[in-house]
Amino acid sequence: MSSLAGMGHLSLDQAPPLAIPAIFFVTAPVAVMAAGLLLLWSGTFALQLYWLPSVVGLTHLGTLGFLTMTMMGALYQMAPVVAGAPVPFIRLAHLVYLLFCLGVACLSLSLMGLWPGLIFQSFTLISAAILLFLATTGVAIVKSKTQGETVAGMRLALFSLLMLVLLGLTMAGGFVDNSFLGFRQFWLQIHISTALMGWVGGLITAVSWQIIPMFYLTPQFTAVGKKVVLGLTTAGIILPLAVLMASAVAPPNTGGWSPTMLAILGALPAALGVWLVHPYLILRNLNRRRRKRLDPSLRFWQLGLTLAPLTGALAVITCFTEDPRATLLFGWVAIWGWAGIIVHGMLSRIVPFLIWFHRFAPHIGRMPVPAMRNLLPDAWVKFGLGLHVSSLVLGAVAIAMRDPGVSRVTGFLVFSTGLSLLHWIVHLLRQKPDLEVVDEGFSTDEQGLGRSG
Ligand code: HEM
Repeated sequence: MSSLAGMGHLSLDQAPPLAIPAIFFVTAPVAVMAAGLLLLWSGTFALQLYWLPSVVGLTHLGTLGFLTMTMMGALYQMAPVVAGAPVPFIRLAHLVYLLFCLGVACLSLSLMGLWPGLIFQSFTLISAAILLFLATTGVAIVKSKTQGETVAGMRLALFSLLMLVLLGLTMAGGFVDNSFLGFRQFWLQIHISTALMGWVGGLITAVSWQIIPMFYLTPQFTAVGKKVVLGLTTAGIILPLAVLMASAVAPPNTGGWSPTMLAILGALPAALGVWLVHPYLILRNLNRRRRKRLDPSLRFWQLGLTLAPLTGALAVITCFTEDPRATLLFGWVAIWGWAGIIVHGMLSRIVPFLIWFHRFAPHIGRMPVPAMRNLLPDAWVKFGLGLHVSSLVLGAVAIAMRDPGVSRVTGFLVFSTGLSLLHWIVHLLRQKPDLEVVDEGFSTDEQGLGRSG
């Protein structure tokens, strides 16, 4: 089977075994639940001052445990299917998974003070997992002969992942014993912009060009729009890295501008591309969609993209105030709002598709096959969205008011969001066709199903 209705030209021949993306997808909600427990346990402590170990822990449970875990699972699936680049040594994905889970789990425990000696080792485990992922999946995508903005965007995201790990690992030494080389704020600034706009933003934008027209039957995007977003993001990732390299070689003559300010200015094009132009293009396209049925995952896209300009505005505000609440609010809205909501919504679309494709599609014509949308009740997805949005709003209030009670309720809601996600992912993974009813004489006309959604 090389293509499915609505999948256009995508080649599915070389899709990896279901188990590989599935282990990443089913683990991501566990990190969300852990983040909820961390908030419940620490109250405002995890939402108070950046650089506090509990804040760094909460941040990386979100960015690595939830976002990166899901994005790595998705890239294992997309490398062969979208970029036409089969991942070599695909079974190594299990090792990547193991190292990454161990790293994130140890990091959370050590930053919570339960195993304080392990902070650096945890960052090393995480880096080893990511480098192994890049050496296999990354190299396959870089070598792919497929052209176009989606693959170019995936390459930019992978380059950013490499850079953010190298920066993170260098910073980890300074973070552990407080012996930071150079300017901490400067390094952190570049780490955050490369991670959020290059890795997370780069992949979200690249994937959206492909899946928005495919899933929601919108018009195709123009090459100009895609190139503008890609060009802005690339410039905003390269310029701050260039400032970093220049200041490492020799302190540049900056005419009174601090290196941090130069790094912020350098990152501006990426902020424009990812948090302004991209949401504008996608939301405009979604309004022109031909499929009028309101798929719940569409709501996630609409909400996440609406939060993108707010994320950009908060990023600007952090440059003009010393109030740590502004930085925390920016991190909260960027990670749990803009990116978190889009990734949550994508899971609700991708997991049913994978289950349907691997388990049911091969039996079309031989037995009644459910439509993809019937595998996951809309009400469950909407309930998850409700929990996610309430935790986002309450978290913002907790940051603004520094109220431990509100923080704990936020923690409970974040935990419940993770639990709801885990519940329906497990429900989907347990769905299998009833092979007893396979009937050689069963005709496709009789079932009238076999549609992908
Ligand atoms: C999507 C990936 C990532 C994102 C979005 C991200 C984001 C962030 C953010 C927002 C902070 C500031 C938190 C705070 O100060 O409280 C931070 C700090 C830090 N990150 Fe990451 N990060 C990512 C991946 C990584 C990785 C892979 C490593 C290491 C291998 C790493 C190492 C660090 C370290 C050591 C700090 C603390 C620096 C310091 O304050 O001294 N990060 N990161």
